[in-house]
Amino acid sequence: MVIILVGGQWGDEGKGKVIDYLAARADMVIRSQGGNNAGHTVITEDGEFKFQLMPSGILYPKCTCIIGNGVVVDPIVLLKEITQLQERGIDPKNLVISERAHMVMRYHPLFDQLEEDVRGDDRLGTTWRGIGPAYADKIRRIGFRIGDLQKEAFMRKKLAFVVDQVKNPILTKLYERESYDWETMLAEYMGYAKQLDPYIKDTFPLIQDALDSNKNILLEGAQATMLDLDFGTYPYVTSSNPTAGGALTGSGIPPTRVDLTIGVFKAYTSRVGYGPFPSELTNEVGDQIRERGHEFGTVTGRARRIGWFDAAVARYSCRLNGVGSAALMRLDILDDQPHLKVCTGYNFRGSTYDHPIANISHYKHCEPVYEEFPGWQTDIGAARCWEDLPSACRDYIERIGELIGAPIELIGTGPRRDQFVTRGRTLFA
Ligand code: IMP
Repeated sequence: MVIILVGGQWGDEGKGKVIDYLAARADMVIRSQGGNNAGHTVITEDGEFKFQLMPSGILYPKCTCIIGNGVVVDPIVLLKEITQLQERGIDPKNLVISERAHMVMRYHPLFDQLEEDVRGDDRLGTTWRGIGPAYADKIRRIGFRIGDLQKEAFMRKKLAFVVDQVKNPILTKLYERESYDWETMLAEYMGYAKQLDPYIKDTFPLIQDALDSNKNILLEGAQATMLDLDFGTYPYVTSSNPTAGGALTGSGIPPTRVDLTIGVFKAYTSRVGYGPFPSELTNEVGDQIRERGHEFGTVTGRARRIGWFDAAVARYSCRLNGVGSAALMRLDILDDQPHLKVCTGYNFRGSTYDHPIANISHYKHCEPVYEEFPGWQTDIGAARCWEDLPSACRDYIERIGELIGAPIELIGTGPRRDQFVTRGRTLFA
């Protein structure tokens, strides 16, 4: 069985926890896009794990964890994650990095910052991890693949060209910064090559064998639909395609082999960085939710913007990704709210919309239309089945399911591994 898991809002929906839940029964977990701009948190009996590049299935030794061709890998960050796991007694022998995955190079985070500075008030609010510049170089065909680490002579020739002919002239002439010395950089990357060598493989045969023997494969999405380069709120997006299509090109899985796409949503909405957010709460309710939900970025520590659940966004995500099953996470964060609202669509210049408006100048100024709900004002942390949930909470979930057009089959009731309510089918049974 092949399952794609996608974020349905602007990220930070609680994907790490759903992936961990599914990974327990998966034979293979594949990351297919993004890089260390992602931050997936998994809480187990052994404590909290925060992954940026490592596929979240890594805690299950029998699960092959692949960093796919569509990911951009910062070797410095990945090696740090490997060491951190080893220090906690976990040897990530089950990790495989696609030879085709591109690298975030030493200069990419710097260019990310410099380009943001130049944008001034129009900055995007990127994570400064070099993700956009790394993908841009991939498209310009001046990127470095992880597999290049195994070809020193090739690295030498290409680094000399890219650093001296492309990067240094921009750095020195445009930004008045110091230039890089490509020979020092080569020595540095050859050091990473030695350490990463055991993990680097051509993942094509590995994934095809898993498909041929009908293994359970999970495609772990990072970021989310509304940050998609094509379907998100461009240009306030990330530089990859976190939608279901991107999961396929980023791994090499054929579309005909996908059995199910799971959309992960948070019971409210959050967004890091700039860009339109119609259901945003800029009042004390937003502050309360942010505090209770510890809504500060895993990667950058920035305070996340908070808003009501936006069913127009969620329905759009379900349709774009072909979501057949939805997970509604972090419902417990709303436990103490006396009233809740759900955005069902937008008004803009006399017209109504049931989906995000493609023109973001219009989307930015649309008026959300809300439906109101009574809160349940009960601690739901101990709920393990549907009947354990208060009826106001069940009504909220049922109505969201109706509005988004997908069955809600996983419900997150707290941060721990066991704090889940499941409904309907058993996935990867
Ligand atoms: P970049 O991916 O660093 O280029 O950032 C582009 C936009 O995507 C910014 O608004 C980031 O805050 C946002 N972003 C990137 N990765 C994540 C994520 O994992 N969760 C939430 N927002 C993200």
